[in-house]
Amino acid sequence: MNATVTATAHSVPKKVMTNSYLEAIVDTSDEWIRSRTGIVQRHVVDESEATSDISTEIAKNLLAKRGIGPEEIDVIIVGTVTPDHFTPSTAAIVQKNINAKNAWGFDLSAACSGFLYGLITGANFIESGQHKKVMVIGVDTMTSILDFQDRDTCVIFGDGGGGVILEPTNHNYGIIDSIMRMDGSGGDYLIVPGGGSRIPATIDSVKNRKHYIKQDGKTVFKHAVKGMAEVSEKILSNNNLTGKDVALFIPHQANKRIIDAAAERCGIPKDRVLINIDKFGNTTAGTIPIALDEAVNSGRIQEREYVLLSAFGAGFTWGSILMRWEYK
Ligand code: ACO
Repeated sequence: MNATVTATAHSVPKKVMTNSYLEAIVDTSDEWIRSRTGIVQRHVVDESEATSDISTEIAKNLLAKRGIGPEEIDVIIVGTVTPDHFTPSTAAIVQKNINAKNAWGFDLSAACSGFLYGLITGANFIESGQHKKVMVIGVDTMTSILDFQDRDTCVIFGDGGGGVILEPTNHNYGIIDSIMRMDGSGGDYLIVPGGGSRIPATIDSVKNRKHYIKQDGKTVFKHAVKGMAEVSEKILSNNNLTGKDVALFIPHQANKRIIDAAAERCGIPKDRVLINIDKFGNTTAGTIPIALDEAVNSGRIQEREYVLLSAFGAGFTWGSILMRWEYK
């Protein structure tokens, strides 16, 4: 038995932050951001919104699209590095908000790979026969950990996310293969140093801006291209496929140049690569489920076609998932 996606949804906050707005607060330019990253704008929360609010919207949309009640959901997995709180989990807040009274669940921390890690975890619950309906959400409110005095990071990220419902199907469809990787020696290159048990919150830690994300962009860039290309090529060859057999490649949206380089290495034609970083920036665990929902809504994926997902993020964590699409 395989797990297949039976509903997709996404949600981003209403407020839009343009590159021109950032020009006014840090030493950057619209031209630099567009040419170095591909980003034109990103959506950002207002003071009243947090990750569970975006997640709840996604969860409600998923239930409506699948036409089922919340009591049918067995598990809720939320991939995020920006939960509302350390505890309770975002999954527990979503469970309460949608009244999924039969569900258990948890948050999963794998940064930009959070949705793929969640998807494969959810798929295993289905394939084992333990559960029938798993909700997997990838979502981040990156502005809650962004330093708007640091031009290296504040121009890249945005807020938002998406999700899917997973259900059982037969062997020829759904999630047919995955490769997941982690290399903790890359941890320092993309890190939020403070606020956890290593550097708990103090007046000094906050003064020293330890609660914001720090990135060595060049190092992450090199590893991201190499990592995403390696797992994508391997998953294709393991399944006797080439880049030309992929109907749609949905990569994590960190940087348009990373996406172009990874797709080229895998021999995937440009018109089969989904790019929406211009509209949303890097929403960390949110990028792939947002893009997947956009692809489904616009009819870019047909029944039986191969869809390849690939991500790279902090940890380092990375991976690829190969699906054969099915409309239920
Ligand atoms: N505006 C203007 N200039 C800038 C900016 C900015 N926002 N940021 C950096 N620069 C300058 C630098 O200071 C440097 O100037 P110098 O040459 O005078 O020293 C110049 O631009 C080039 O800097 P680079 O760091 O070499 O720029 P690069 O082309 O590498 O682009 C970027 C930077 C966009 C961050 C890129 O390295 C990148 O995308 N890295 C990977 C990001 C990523 O994949 N993250 C992983 C996922 S995130 C997650 O898991 C949470």
